[in-house]
Amino acid sequence: MTELIQGVDLADPQTFNGRDLAGFWKQLRSERPVYWHPPLGKNPGFWVISRYADIMDVYRDDVNFTSERGNLLVTLLAGGDSGSGQMLAVTDGHRHRELRKIMLKAFSPRALERISDRVRANTRRLVAEAVKRDVCDFAEDIASHIPMGTIADLLGVPAADREFLLSLTKSALSSDAADAQETDALMARNEILLYFGELVEERRRSPGDDVISVLAGGEIDGRTLTEDEMILNCYSLIIGGDETSRLSMIDSVYTLSHHPRQWQLLRDGEVSLSSAVEEVLRWASPAMHFGRTCLNDIEVGGVRIAAGDIVTLWHASGNRDEAVFRDPGTFALDRTPNKHITFGYGPHFCLGAYLARVELSELLSALRTFAQGFEVVGPAQRIHSNFLAGFSALPVRFEPDPAGLARYDETRGATV
Ligand code: HEM
Repeated sequence: MTELIQGVDLADPQTFNGRDLAGFWKQLRSERPVYWHPPLGKNPGFWVISRYADIMDVYRDDVNFTSERGNLLVTLLAGGDSGSGQMLAVTDGHRHRELRKIMLKAFSPRALERISDRVRANTRRLVAEAVKRDVCDFAEDIASHIPMGTIADLLGVPAADREFLLSLTKSALSSDAADAQETDALMARNEILLYFGELVEERRRSPGDDVISVLAGGEIDGRTLTEDEMILNCYSLIIGGDETSRLSMIDSVYTLSHHPRQWQLLRDGEVSLSSAVEEVLRWASPAMHFGRTCLNDIEVGGVRIAAGDIVTLWHASGNRDEAVFRDPGTFALDRTPNKHITFGYGPHFCLGAYLARVELSELLSALRTFAQGFEVVGPAQRIHSNFLAGFSALPVRFEPDPAGLARYDETRGATV
């Protein structure tokens, strides 16, 4: 095995800090597609699955692989997830199916239409305002307000609390700075749980049509959900849906600014928004991995995996697998087919995929309406994480499209 493969510690956030790992993943896919990552420091060893087909095999098999001991490296390596058996993403089997059915009620076509309308209005306002200002931090001024607004709508979070929740979610999962402490992240998580505890109490007293009220009215096997279950599942929406979507949006602007030909195709309407959204999602792969624990001795890609082993599935690699994607290292907005695994696959397939696509589509639509172009005018700051990939700051200068802005100003009252 080459030194390149041996020298990479995938549990260390520093590994992903600005380093191009394309060569590493390519080599793993060809030489060690099912690779035993050795124990390093205090961490136990774990399997690294890098080929698309093997990743799909593990995702679809919730009999031999469980999410209940955690679905991220950080919790798997620590020995478990405190939400196990209660929070949708780390619950399996019958209980998972029943909980998912309850949560899906909050994602009815009528609710999604209402939320999508608000995403459109909010996104167009944020982009139009930023374009008029010339220079902005795209991450802070635009991207940070869109997904959080969407989830807050889903949950029925009052407008006054949204900034506070945003600051907590930022430190709960990833870190903007390399020296941020894990205790800060833990404290942020606890504060989010406390906040939702209060909101749950309030909705029990006076229900509405939001997720919290849907959870409050839900029953599994004749038993209502406990307060802990409700709180954890509110938390899972905010943690699962905010930063992932935000990072995809930031990445779309960063990548388009470096691919002017692709931007032009999008702006001229030569590629559809829906096709562009899928390529942006494949390219960004904001959630680099998810994970499982193996329950029974089994083979993956011809390699024996033992019961109890930790298995990690790397979207960062599967979405660049040359066996599935033609020219995988090329950013092509008209790519078809484009069956990326950015939202996972199988029983735990992302619950918010539709909303994330709406958010990206509205962003790209607003950009091509209000801006002729944009450029990155300062250092893009990378987040510090072994799970999420992307930027926490992206200084951008817009070249406004006066015609698009004029149409917006005229129609604002009627359409927004
Ligand atoms: C680009 C944005 C997003 C990405 C890349 C993403 C990615 C994923 C992935 C890969 C999974 C599967 C995890 C696993 O199998 O262990 C997942 C599950 C989930 N996602 Fe997303 N997600 C995004 C946006 C959202 C949004 C907007 C929401 C909520 C509004 C959301 C809520 C969830 C939930 C609740 C689950 C658990 C589903 C289950 O276990 O049945 N996600 N997401």
